[in-house]
Amino acid sequence: MFAFHSGLAGYQATPLLRAPSVARALGVATALVKDESDRFGMPSFKILGASWAIYCALCELLSVSLEPVIPLTQLRQLLEGIQPLELVAATDGNHGRAVARMATLMGLNSHILVPDEMVPARRRAIVAEGARLTPIQGTYDDAVRAAAALADNHHLVISDTSWEGYQKVPTWVIDGYSTITHELATQLDALGERAPTVIAVQIGVGAFAAAMVRYAHQKAGTVLVGVEPADAACMLASIEAGHLVEVAGPHRSIMAGLNCGNASPVAWPLVSRGLDYIVAIDDDDARRAMRLLAQDGIVSGESGAAGLGGLLAGRRQLKLPPTSTVLIVSTEGATDPSAYERTVGRLPDVRAR
Ligand SMILES: Cc1ncc(COP(=O)(O)O)c(C=O)c1O
Repeated sequence: MFAFHSGLAGYQATPLLRAPSVARALGVATALVKDESDRFGMPSFKILGASWAIYCALCELLSVSLEPVIPLTQLRQLLEGIQPLELVAATDGNHGRAVARMATLMGLNSHILVPDEMVPARRRAIVAEGARLTPIQGTYDDAVRAAAALADNHHLVISDTSWEGYQKVPTWVIDGYSTITHELATQLDALGERAPTVIAVQIGVGAFAAAMVRYAHQKAGTVLVGVEPADAACMLASIEAGHLVEVAGPHRSIMAGLNCGNASPVAWPLVSRGLDYIVAIDDDDARRAMRLLAQDGIVSGESGAAGLGGLLAGRRQLKLPPTSTVLIVSTEGATDPSAYERTVGRLPDVRAR
């Protein structure tokens, strides 16, 4: 995956930053933030999963071997033989925008289905990538079902969540996120830091958390804390039930990327066994985390800051040792700029995407 991503035009590792205000607030020695607010010029980490999954799915369609990685320009030429082809995805914002960007790059159309309550800024961002956007009455989960129903020979569904009979693409999405952890290894060395002892991971369908579980399991003793919005805590409900359960909507958290009523079945075995704690938080916890990250110069959107929100909210129960090295992945920048400014204050111009 890293070989694929690092070969794409515009590749740069996202920064790993020290966050002294965050460390103070958590009462720990060190807080590090992997800042995903600019990934290939997009304001979230999601393009890592979408790009790798699309690459793999198109190679499969064309019967091209995944390795060695071939340039996207070459793949685009091969695609001319099987047009028309449209990429279809459901999203609560970031994944769909990334799929739309990739489709345009590959010379394909994209059709992105969104819950009808999605804020205009996120809708506009998806359309600006060249997508046809369809609002679906209901929740993100309703949009997922509607997208799944569109699959045929000319409509390739690129979902970051899975369901019965549809597992390959969402597994590639999880694999794609491993570029974050690949970069971390070098960046921790460069900062002279040891491996994190505590990692907070925000959970929507659980694909991102699954990638972080794989990473944390290579390091004995790392404590992994999952974080969800209180009214869309589908992983927590499933862990309590011992099997996957749906948390019915409406899901109205400002943490839009985490507003999911169903955890992904391919992520479930890894995440349910790999988390040490799981915390459900309110919107105010996310807002507090956004403000705190801003004090350390990090622009983090509602879903991006949720991991830190969980550590702040659960601090008493988690009893983080003062010697801890905490890692937070700020998975998005200000994807709803006016909401960001209402919560935090004026957005630095350079990040106002
Ligand atoms: C910014 C952000 N962070 C985290 C997540 C959670 O990822 P996953 O749905 O894989 O759990 C999302 C999902 O859309 C997101 O947009």
